Amino acid sequence: MAHGMFRPRRLREKALVRKLVRETALSVDDFIYPLFVVPGRGVREPIAPMPGQHRFSVDELVKECKDAAGMGIPAVLLFGIPSEKDPRGSEAYADDGIVQQAVRAVKDTVPDLLVVTDVCLCEYTSHGHCGVVEDGAVRNDPTLELLARTAVSHAEAGADLVAPSDMMDGRVGVIREALDDASFAETPIMAYSAKYASCFFEPFRAAAESTPQFGDRRSYQMDPANAQEAMREIALDLDEGADIVMVKPALPYLDVVSRAKLEFGVPLAAYSVSGEYAMIRAAGQLGWLDEERAMLEALTSIRRAGADIVITYFARQAARLLERGLGAR
Ligand code: PBG
Ligand code: ZN
Repeated sequence: MAHGMFRPRRLREKALVRKLVRETALSVDDFIYPLFVVPGRGVREPIAPMPGQHRFSVDELVKECKDAAGMGIPAVLLFGIPSEKDPRGSEAYADDGIVQQAVRAVKDTVPDLLVVTDVCLCEYTSHGHCGVVEDGAVRNDPTLELLARTAVSHAEAGADLVAPSDMMDGRVGVIREALDDASFAETPIMAYSAKYASCFFEPFRAAAESTPQFGDRRSYQMDPANAQEAMREIALDLDEGADIVMVKPALPYLDVVSRAKLEFGVPLAAYSVSGEYAMIRAAGQLGWLDEERAMLEALTSIRRAGADIVITYFARQAARLLERGLGAR
C-alpha cells in the first residue's frame, strides 16, 4: 500500500473510536409505539401475525402506556377497532368512540406520554375502505368531511397530534381548517404523505380487522414503483399545512425517506410497518436471524436514511436494549 494513504480501518479497530465517529445514534426519544385498542375490559389479546403485539381494552392499554412511558418512549400511536362497523364508519368520529375513550384514559393517567391518533375510516367501515364508497368506488370529496370530524373528535378527546392515513386528496387542508375552526390551531398534523399500496400491511389488517371487503387500496394508496410522485405528495401535504410528513412502509422505501429528507428538510417520520416487524420476528423465531441485531440494524438504517421519527412495533424491545447500552456494538 502506498505511503500516506488513507486507511479507513484505522477508525474501525477500537470500539471507542468507532463510537466517536459513529454518524447515526438510535435513541428512544425518536420512537413512536403503535397500539391497538378494542372494546371490553381486561382484554390483552395476542395478534397472531405480530408475535409480541396485542389488542388491548382501554384499561389494559393504559397499563401498556404507563410501561412504555416508564421506558422513556415519548409517544404512542393509537388505532381503534370498534364493536360496530357501518358504511360511513360513524364510530371513527363518535364522541364516545373507542379511540376517543382510549385517548381520554391515557391522557388522564399518563399525561406526559404523547398520544398520536391514526385518522382513517378503514377500521370503522363495514366495507373496510378508507373512504366513503359509492357505486363500488371510493369517493374522495365526500370522505373529507368525515376525516375532518374524526380529527376534531380526537383533538377534543385530548390527542396531542393527529395522523391522517387515508390518502384522500386534499385531506390535510380540510383537517387543518377544521382543527383551526374548533380552536385546535396548536394541534400538529403528522401526515401519512407517501403511503404505498403495500403488501407489508397485511398483519396490521388482521389486527385491525380492516381488510377491504372488495377490491384493494390501489386507487388511493401509492404505486410502489413511484418515488418522484412521493415528492409531489409530500409537497402537497406541506402546502396544505402538514407539520410532519411520513413515508410508509420504511425498509422497502428507504430511498424515498432519504430523498424526502434531502429535498424538503422538514420533520420526517418513517413507519416501519407490521410486515417489517413480522419478517424480523419470524426469522428470529425460526433461528434464521439474530432478532435483536436485525431489529437494531433495521431501525438504525431508517434513521440513517433521514427519518427523524421511527414508528415501530419494536419500540419497547429496542428501548430495553438501548437502555442497556446495546444499541450499537
Ligand atoms: C389505516 C392504516 C394502515 C396502516 C396504518 N394505518 C393499514 C392500511 O392502510 O391498510 C398500516 C400499519 C402497519 O401495517 O403496521 N389506513
Ligand atoms: Zn385506512
